[in-house]
Amino acid sequence: MAELFVKQAKQYADTRPSYPPELFQFIASKTPSQHLAWDVGTGSGQAAQSLAEIYNKVIATDTSEKQLEYATKLPNVLYKQTPPTMSMTEIEKKVSPQSSIDLVIIAQALHWFDHPTFYQQVKWILKKPHGVIAAWCYTIPRVNEKINTVLDRLYYIDSKPFWDPARKLVENEYRSIDFPFEPVDGADHTGPFEFVTKKVMDSDDFLRYIRSWSAYQTAKEKGVELLRNDVVEEFQSAWNEGGDGQKVVEFPIFLRIGRVGDV
Ligand SMILES: C[S@@+](CC[C@H](N)C(=O)[O-])C[C@H]1O[C@@H](n2cnc3c(N)ncnc32)[C@H](O)[C@@H]1O
Repeated sequence: MAELFVKQAKQYADTRPSYPPELFQFIASKTPSQHLAWDVGTGSGQAAQSLAEIYNKVIATDTSEKQLEYATKLPNVLYKQTPPTMSMTEIEKKVSPQSSIDLVIIAQALHWFDHPTFYQQVKWILKKPHGVIAAWCYTIPRVNEKINTVLDRLYYIDSKPFWDPARKLVENEYRSIDFPFEPVDGADHTGPFEFVTKKVMDSDDFLRYIRSWSAYQTAKEKGVELLRNDVVEEFQSAWNEGGDGQKVVEFPIFLRIGRVGDV
């Protein structure tokens, strides 16, 4: 699947949202120290940049070299390309030694991973017992009733055959995703905890965001153009109703968070 994010890496970097400060403040308040964080599936560093404001050092890894090319470079963020599955020896070499990391985050990517293997690695690398894993997804954005109606048809009907089955975990707001960790201090469950991120977009940005969907890419490879001229026209007309130009687009976020405990 990692290939799905290679071809539209530029669109991805330009149109995907970053995440709100409250999300990072909440997560960081659960790690006793803020020395080292690992952002897995960093893409073009959407979350790594904010983490870098709180943690002394961030290691940000992705399988896609192309995605990493578009990431904003910062002195305390180390971007690295990694293979889709890594042995413990590779993890130690490419990421960090055993029990050395305060926080592992996975932003809009956990649904793509092989969970048993990945969780074993997370448990190995996190500091015991207070190291924290935080994984979140966002579901399709909301703009206004008219635009939502056009978008819902495109998402729930037209693009449906082209989504990987893993996408179901996102639609389910990460409620059913396997998450074998203990609640963090002050919580009695591991989530989802809800947040919202907002991005100001014009209609071209929004269409480019749709083109950054993995399903858009898959459909295209199968000879199906999801954004046919008539669909684009319908979008533009919904967008321009009540004034064209920029609109606030809201992406609902669902966070699972837990600590490793004594493993
Ligand atoms: C939907 S993007 C999320 C990017 C970014 N974290 C964000 O918040 O927008 C998913 C990313 O996961 C990466 N990815 C997929 N499988 C991976 C794996 N096994 N290990 C590391 N990265 C992976 C993809 O290349 C892609 O950049």
